[in-house]
Amino acid sequence: MSIREDGAAAVDWVARYLERVPELPVLAQVEPGEIRSRLPESAPEEGEPFDAVLRDLDEVLMPGITNWQHPRFFAYFAVTSSEPAMLAELIAAALNQVAILWRTAPASTELEAVVLDWVAQLVGLPRAWHGHIEDTASTSTLAALIVARHVTGREAVVCSEHAHSSVDKAARMLGMELRKVTVDEQFRMRPDALQLDGVAAVVATVGTTSTTSVDPIADIARACRDAGAWLHVDAAYAGGAMVCPELRWAFEGVEMADSLVINAHKWLFTPVDCSLLWTRRPDDFRDAFSLVPEYLRTPDSEDALSLSEYGPALGRRFRSLKLWAVLRCLGRAGLQDRIRRAIALAELFEGWVREEPGWELCAPRPFSVVCFRRDAPDEANEALLERVNRSGEAYISHTRLNGRYVLRLAVGHERTTEDDVRAAWDLIRREALRVP
Ligand SMILES: Cc1ncc(COP(=O)(O)O)c(C=O)c1O
Repeated sequence: MSIREDGAAAVDWVARYLERVPELPVLAQVEPGEIRSRLPESAPEEGEPFDAVLRDLDEVLMPGITNWQHPRFFAYFAVTSSEPAMLAELIAAALNQVAILWRTAPASTELEAVVLDWVAQLVGLPRAWHGHIEDTASTSTLAALIVARHVTGREAVVCSEHAHSSVDKAARMLGMELRKVTVDEQFRMRPDALQLDGVAAVVATVGTTSTTSVDPIADIARACRDAGAWLHVDAAYAGGAMVCPELRWAFEGVEMADSLVINAHKWLFTPVDCSLLWTRRPDDFRDAFSLVPEYLRTPDSEDALSLSEYGPALGRRFRSLKLWAVLRCLGRAGLQDRIRRAIALAELFEGWVREEPGWELCAPRPFSVVCFRRDAPDEANEALLERVNRSGEAYISHTRLNGRYVLRLAVGHERTTEDDVRAAWDLIRREALRVP
């Protein structure tokens, strides 16, 4: 193995992939088990050259890749792994920092604090907050709920019926009781429906998964304060968009939250995984999570902060490097430009749906996700979704709103153009004619 030659070939592979991804099917066109059946049952006895890995990547694995980097990926939340972050991931793997303690990874630990502070400034969060990186928003929310229970000694969690399922999962894993609050006609949590007696935490969402609705944080925060409940804000998707000042209305009151999560791997052009978790109450986090066995004790001073004392994981990888690379190479202007473009394209698509007879919009659109459906039975919309996705030309997803099956088109990839959105709309209408 020659890192120079094989490395050059790998980077070349990446460059070629990015060039040809628009020609690949968006949704992998394989059946379950198909990829596995093409792979050997056991690892080779003797090592093989790296080019054999690249060859099988092309021949065996690529048909099983759903191309999230495709400009016509419009499902779930469309995300981007940007080029600076890809290169930084390579370097992070080379450095293999295992940040169990400050001294085992000083630069990784301190850069993490710096990039969290940079993002806090970019999205308008209080700079005094403490931030660190978890793998996913699921872990970030789980961590926040662990702290909320630790601090309050209470067992109930409240969220809206539109909160992400990671809240249900966290509550279930913790054995906490979950209470769901109803939403208004715009899918926002109704603060007047909150009953917070004996409640450990409320999870409010800025950018819900189905419709990207925004819970009224300020009202919820005041109710939490009065009831002594912890407020965790899930801004996993929409938080990154707060880099645009015109969208900051969605963060009104956020400074009163106890913790908040934004996924850099959703709308900050950073590859999965990179979930940013801040808290106004770092001492409570440390109190809940710090556990330093003898072998991890060091003479380093108190300000040699070990971020493993603020969350579930001990070994933490150098995730801040890729985010740092993104923030430096895109800058505030680059982030704003990409986010505004995605929103403008979603607005355009929304306009086409609004104008088209036989189609309807199903929710307000605060950001870059359009919820819509054909004026036809649920089964027809479901069949339409499957036809669109099976074509490989675009990938959209669905949700259920007010009991009805609804299609979702999410714009977010940095290379998506008006032509891509237009192609998706043409495809959707064309396939709609073919649904019985
Ligand atoms: C609002 C919201 N919160 C949390 C999550 C979970 O994110 P992760 O996959 O990082 O756990 C999602 C996923 O899409 C989401 O939409």
